[in-house]
Amino acid sequence: MNAIEVIDVSKKFKVSGKEFYALKDVSLGIKKDEIFGLLGPNGSGKTTLINIIIGLLTADEGNVKLLGKDVGKFPDITEKVGLVSNDARFHWALNVKDVFTFFGMVHGLEKRERERRASELADFFGLEKILKRRVDGLSTGERMRLSFAKALMNKPSILLLDEPTLGLDPSISIKLRKEIKNINKEFGTPMLLTSHYMREVQQLADRVAFIYRGEIMDTRDVRGVDLEKYFLKMVRLGE
Ligand SMILES: Nc1ncnc2c1ncn2[C@@H]1O[C@H](COP(=O)(O)OP(=O)(O)OP(=O)(O)O)[C@@H](O)[C@H]1O
Ligand SMILES: [Mg+2]
Repeated sequence: MNAIEVIDVSKKFKVSGKEFYALKDVSLGIKKDEIFGLLGPNGSGKTTLINIIIGLLTADEGNVKLLGKDVGKFPDITEKVGLVSNDARFHWALNVKDVFTFFGMVHGLEKRERERRASELADFFGLEKILKRRVDGLSTGERMRLSFAKALMNKPSILLLDEPTLGLDPSISIKLRKEIKNINKEFGTPMLLTSHYMREVQQLADRVAFIYRGEIMDTRDVRGVDLEKYFLKMVRLGE
């Protein structure tokens, strides 16, 4: 059984009265234990697919199964999924600690466990000195670190990483990549990763798929593939 199963998913958007396919008949299987990279140019549908997988958007056609359960029939299954996204938005009036409290409560953690987890994660992500800072005053990197930390509050069984190191300085990116690899190794957490940093995908992913204008063009093992060359080749083929 795949941890994430995307079956013939299509999604249309309407812009200025004109409909277009953001995703067209997308099928993907992400195995238990693997890190799967989703590559594709800007606007090719990566974030749309991630939002459908976690239930923030509904597909027009097709369905998604997480850990064998259909998201449409068992929406609670998405509680087992952590999302790290560069457009994570938090209510401006919350401070960093409030965000931890909020997500802890959403996941039904008791106060003591919530506080223990928040303190562990704040420590790891270097947020302990800014716990009282309001989120509307955070830098890009601080917001991204908070997004990562809150996604781990409930020890998710699946992680969706949408450009998780976008805008981060190299020292924190390196630390985060190590942590991504560690979580995957230690807990076997399956992950779907999008990134425009080919080195990052090369380092983390076991397999990749290439998506172009909403359609999956190719899926392959990463080992032995120069992903930068691969990306450019796939774009040429798609044009
Ligand atoms: N809510 C929406 N309404 C209309 N169009 C949308 C909406 N969300 C996304 N799109 C369009 O759907 C297409 C796919 O967008 P998506 O954000 O999934 O791309 P992406 O592959 O994540 O790109 P990037 O690499 O820039 O993050 C784009 O053309 C985008 O403009
Ligand atoms: Mg995106």
